[in-house]
Amino acid sequence: MLKCADLLESHVELTARLNQHLQAVVVGDLEQARTLFHSFAALLEAHSLAEDRILLPVFKKLKLESNGCSLDILDKEHRKLRRLLADAEQRIFQKTVDLTPAVRLAWIEDTRMLKEVLEHHDVRERAAFNPAFDQALDQAEAAALAGETLALQEQLEAECFAKYQARC
Ligand SMILES: [Fe+2]
Ligand SMILES: [Fe+2]
Repeated sequence: MLKCADLLESHVELTARLNQHLQAVVVGDLEQARTLFHSFAALLEAHSLAEDRILLPVFKKLKLESNGCSLDILDKEHRKLRRLLADAEQRIFQKTVDLTPAVRLAWIEDTRMLKEVLEHHDVRERAAFNPAFDQALDQAEAAALAGETLALQEQLEAECFAKYQARC
């Protein structure tokens, strides 16, 4: 049966997609780097929005907040991630790009902050967010909540990816 902790698999997938994007940057494949960035961005946007819309209100209602994992902290980190994502998108999709070694290095450096915030956010949610639902709810309730969140995430991911592709 699905658990809310299973939703953390998206974090692993996000890291993998970001690394694939960076590998394409390293070899100077601009088209591939852009597509892989959009695939990463769509999942990050969809994952954080699905959490905002479904999980955060339940987290509050069940009084699961703690000092290190409050609604305010989670909301701020989600906003920061989306802001960093928008900055990176602007940089990667500027009209004239020549992926010289210097530009490749600059892009990799610019992604560092995004990676760091992602890592901190993963540690926080892994410790005190996702497992808290599974502890507070019975198995069927946790499975239903996780299923609903995953379904919305998948729908939003497809929408975000299409929106990004349309802008290219
Ligand atoms: Fe998450
Ligand atoms: Fe999150």
